[in-house]
Amino acid sequence: MQLTFKPLHPSFVAEASEVDLRHADSETLEQVRRGMDQYGVLVFRKQPFTDDQQLEFATQFDGTLHAKTSSSVLEKNRFGNEALSDVSNVGRDGQLLPPNDRRRMSALANRLWHTDASFVDPAGRYSMLSARVVPEVHADTQFADMRGAYDALDAQTKTLIEDLRVHHSIAYSREVLGFEFAPGEKEQLKGAVHPLVRRIPGVLRRSLYLASHAQEIVGWPVPEGRLLLRDLTEHATQARFVYSHPWLVGDFVIWDNRTTMHRATYFDDKKHRRELRRTTTLDVARTTATA
Ligand code: OGA
Ligand code: MN
Repeated sequence: MQLTFKPLHPSFVAEASEVDLRHADSETLEQVRRGMDQYGVLVFRKQPFTDDQQLEFATQFDGTLHAKTSSSVLEKNRFGNEALSDVSNVGRDGQLLPPNDRRRMSALANRLWHTDASFVDPAGRYSMLSARVVPEVHADTQFADMRGAYDALDAQTKTLIEDLRVHHSIAYSREVLGFEFAPGEKEQLKGAVHPLVRRIPGVLRRSLYLASHAQEIVGWPVPEGRLLLRDLTEHATQARFVYSHPWLVGDFVIWDNRTTMHRATYFDDKKHRRELRRTTTLDVARTTATA
């Protein structure tokens, strides 16, 4: 089946033509991978995934699933499977999370620009978010084009950052917001080091690899590294590099964490229910047959 992609932004993000991803054959999956290399974010409409089907799709599409999420350190999720992230404001009892709930506090940090699982090694490759319940108010997810942002840097900055390496830690992005971890929790969240400039195999363009988890540049004085990371993030998240996704129930959005950043936006989560499920794959050599 021939998929077509309709751009939703001048430099990245496209909407795929009608397809049922639950029954995608290997040729369709390959077209989706090529679309991901080109656009960085793909929007699929009307995908009625069950949890098991979503897990199965993620594995078929890209192999190894990320399960060492930050929330798994706080508590086991209500699905009994940490590879299926509970991106919702709903507790075990089916009620909206109370204002001071720790999972809620931690999830609020999704409103900082980030990439998924940059705090582990291997880091996240693709993330896939399935919209199950969306509020009637705006609760968009925003994406930033990190290849467009890299291309727009001046030559001097490109030279400066070429070989830099960055320590990412999820404890850092939470603590910036005043969230407190217990010592035992922090022990499990040591972080990881990744290059600041990334290239993805088979794709010529480079991208900036940044996240709110980016804590320091290896070998640099801490304040100086943080300032550079802040300057780059400010540059990369200018309106011209950003696409805002207004969710419809059934939307399934796949993004490449190597070439984009994303963030949640404000909505009154104490009043409106919002339930999405996320699967994220790890940036390891592919374990599934792609032929
Ligand atoms: C995520 C995430 C943002 C949102 O699921 O990784 O950052 O808008 N979500 O829920
Ligand atoms: Mn995220």
